[in-house]
Amino acid sequence: MANLNVADIQGFVLRGYNFPFARYLLLELDGPQAGRDFIGQVIPHITTGQRWDNGKPQSTVNIGFTHKGLVRLGLPDATLLSFPVEFFQGMKGRKEILCDTGRNACENWDEVWRKDVVHVWLGVNALTPAALDDRCAQMERILQQTGGARLQQAQDAKAVFIDGKATSKEHFGYTDGFGNPDFDGPERHSQPGQGKLTKEGNWVPLATGEFILGYPDEAGELPVAPVPHLLSNNGTFMVYRKLHENVAAFRGYVDEQSSQYAGGKEKFAAKMVGRWRDGTPLESSPDAADPALAADPQRNVKFTYGHDPDGARCPLGAHIRRANPRDSAGFNGQLVNRRRITRRGLPYGEYAPEGAPVRDEDERGVIFMVLNASIFRQFEFVHQQWIEYGNDAHQGSDKDALLGNHDGKGRFLIQGSTDPLNPPFVCARLPQFVELRGGDYFFVPSLTALRLIAGNSVDPR
Ligand code: HEM
Repeated sequence: MANLNVADIQGFVLRGYNFPFARYLLLELDGPQAGRDFIGQVIPHITTGQRWDNGKPQSTVNIGFTHKGLVRLGLPDATLLSFPVEFFQGMKGRKEILCDTGRNACENWDEVWRKDVVHVWLGVNALTPAALDDRCAQMERILQQTGGARLQQAQDAKAVFIDGKATSKEHFGYTDGFGNPDFDGPERHSQPGQGKLTKEGNWVPLATGEFILGYPDEAGELPVAPVPHLLSNNGTFMVYRKLHENVAAFRGYVDEQSSQYAGGKEKFAAKMVGRWRDGTPLESSPDAADPALAADPQRNVKFTYGHDPDGARCPLGAHIRRANPRDSAGFNGQLVNRRRITRRGLPYGEYAPEGAPVRDEDERGVIFMVLNASIFRQFEFVHQQWIEYGNDAHQGSDKDALLGNHDGKGRFLIQGSTDPLNPPFVCARLPQFVELRGGDYFFVPSLTALRLIAGNSVDPR
């Protein structure tokens, strides 16, 4: 257990809140002084990593800044220049690495992201819509009182509700939110399957420095971080991507292809992701969903791919196998341990149950957020090498079936076995199921850093 100052770390860095409602306020900062006044007033509202001994609060508030935002706040040049280059360039500037071309190109993003006006991400989560509105109204009053920033867009997000209950489903119908790395944090019990594998085959938490600046990482080094250390320690970096889901195209493709596939529709859908739609890992239960297994935290992320080198149970190109290859990437897992990402975020748009009319143009998808100490080494590597390129998964130039920038030319191979209900199967002409609608890279400072910024006392010397 690491000795972390949880009151200094923003809460969502340490845990997923699991609130059903969220609004991401995308703000453009005004001049430096008014911007700093705004931050000064927001600080008392920021949710930290302190325990919720009296139960969950009604709502939470967290904050992050783009590099342009930090420039607008008047941080010293020596500090601004000390940030990692990918953060300085921002997501738009990294389009080649991320393969954000074609339908994912910036010309197709929401206007707010095209215009480069998002300096601050203010993330509000809440238990109810009323609590969300209250907290956002409070934030807007601070905006008005200080004149420090303008609201450019309010992005709503919410859990998919089925029969009146919030679920962890996303719009393609899969249960999401199982796999997130355990790292050495405050009093966290680790869950088997979430951290790293020891040589003896036990799961232990990853080093804190993979996710929080100022602590040793898996290489035993301090992550690259801006100066002064008071500004970077206990902070991290966040990737925000608004991912539109073409639900009609996805359902149409699954129906069409699975009609030729002997394993049937649900197995076909499971092969694409590596989990049955209820979350049962295909690797642990290749022939059928197992609701008891899916619901058991001791088992639902505890699996490896080492005994399935040919992808007979879980295809080599399935989404979760590509995004976290676990033990199958060699080097005793050490390569994978340095490529883990913490996922946050929620779906947006109205859920259309299977069978209900859907159109690809309808506004629905996932606000996908990633936390990591190095956007370059962690998120960008996963996205470029494992999602958009297929080599590491022995899939040639095949991209991730679910996420790849396919544009009608994608391919996905289901390896299969000699079992007649588990045959090899080739999917061709994959349309693009997920399209990028914008986003950026954010620095998520500690509370100490926020006070330094608000007080104009960031001193890199
Ligand atoms: C609309 C977009 C996306 C959808 C619908 C989606 C869907 C899913 C689903 C259903 C799971 C299985 C649940 C779980 O294991 O937690 C999953 C896991 C995961 N996804 Fe995605 N995903 C999306 C985007 C992405 C992106 C862009 C990345 C990374 C660049 C990513 C990385 C991961 C990782 C790391 C896991 C956990 C794998 C594990 O630890 O076993 N996903 N995703």
